[in-house]
Amino acid sequence: MNRQTIIDILCDQETRILDDLCRQACAIRKECVGDKVYLRGIIEFSNYCSRDCLYCGLRRSNAALKRYRMSVDEIEACARAARQADIRTIVLQSGEDAGLSIQWLGEMVARVKALDVAVTVSVGERSYADYRCLKEAGADRYLLKFETSDEALFARLKPDSSYQARMRCLDWLRQLDYQVGSGIMIGLPGQTPESIADDILLFEKLDLDMIGVGPFIAHPDTPLAGAPTAPVEEVLKAVALTRIVTRNTHIPATTATGSIDPAGRERALLAGANVVMPDLTPVQYRSLYEIYPGKACVTEQTQDCLPCLVSRIQSTGLEVSFERGDSVKFVGARHASPSTRPQR
Ligand code: 5AD
Repeated sequence: MNRQTIIDILCDQETRILDDLCRQACAIRKECVGDKVYLRGIIEFSNYCSRDCLYCGLRRSNAALKRYRMSVDEIEACARAARQADIRTIVLQSGEDAGLSIQWLGEMVARVKALDVAVTVSVGERSYADYRCLKEAGADRYLLKFETSDEALFARLKPDSSYQARMRCLDWLRQLDYQVGSGIMIGLPGQTPESIADDILLFEKLDLDMIGVGPFIAHPDTPLAGAPTAPVEEVLKAVALTRIVTRNTHIPATTATGSIDPAGRERALLAGANVVMPDLTPVQYRSLYEIYPGKACVTEQTQDCLPCLVSRIQSTGLEVSFERGDSVKFVGARHASPSTRPQR
């Protein structure tokens, strides 16, 4: 699909176009990754952040937020409970917490990995040496969203980061043989259909294993307070286009999509997503990981999260999988013998 076609679809307000797109995306999902929906239990283990991104409630300037850091024992206990509930991927996410040493992060990864699960780390931009340490500690996957491919918009929204640095991190993660995830927000102030088309084409160019697409939701304690939220249909279109263009990637039905529409996650699954992320963060910390307001499931008890999500998945007619669900690209071509490996 070329850039202009993507732009035309994003600009088309007809409801029929979304239905057609979803049908096409579901057919491609079935063909390329099957009709299973994979579960990733997420533990948001620290809300400290040294960055000041304009859109995020965890930004360092948000003095209203009470900060927390879970201990490795607490994190391990959460992961153990999840493993007992048959979840086989644990996502360890935090703000860009400069107070966490690489030794501490490495121990956390190793302790969780010992539970015989796939480990995904999402702690932002770190050095090549740090990424290597975490890989050696047992991390399988890494999530680092680029948020927007519009470099001017990126610079405005992430004043103390750089687009080039972020791209370099994604490159390092790939070199280190991680399964690599990235993603974007839809509805950022100043974002255009052209830039969303570029985002989707960049997903393909980066040969990502996992791609998260969710709505931007303005947080009251940030400079973007009061900014409007995009209609959920725009998010669903971007999800469907991402599936159609990237074909065999893992795409979560994001919690943010479930936060702007009570049926948002189910609708994202029907737009081509194939991953759901139950929140394993202990209830006393959940409301403090307030990246955006109105987050779905914040007051839910941890043990209620999984059955709720399982029944949501089943309501779509898709099958819940308790497998690890490694990237098809990863177990396939990228790790094939050199003679059969396609040129990247
Ligand atoms: N609305 C929606 N998503 C947000 N994120 C950060 N702030 C917001 C917001 N206001 C997303 C970003 C980030 C992820 C952890 O949360 O995509 O990468």
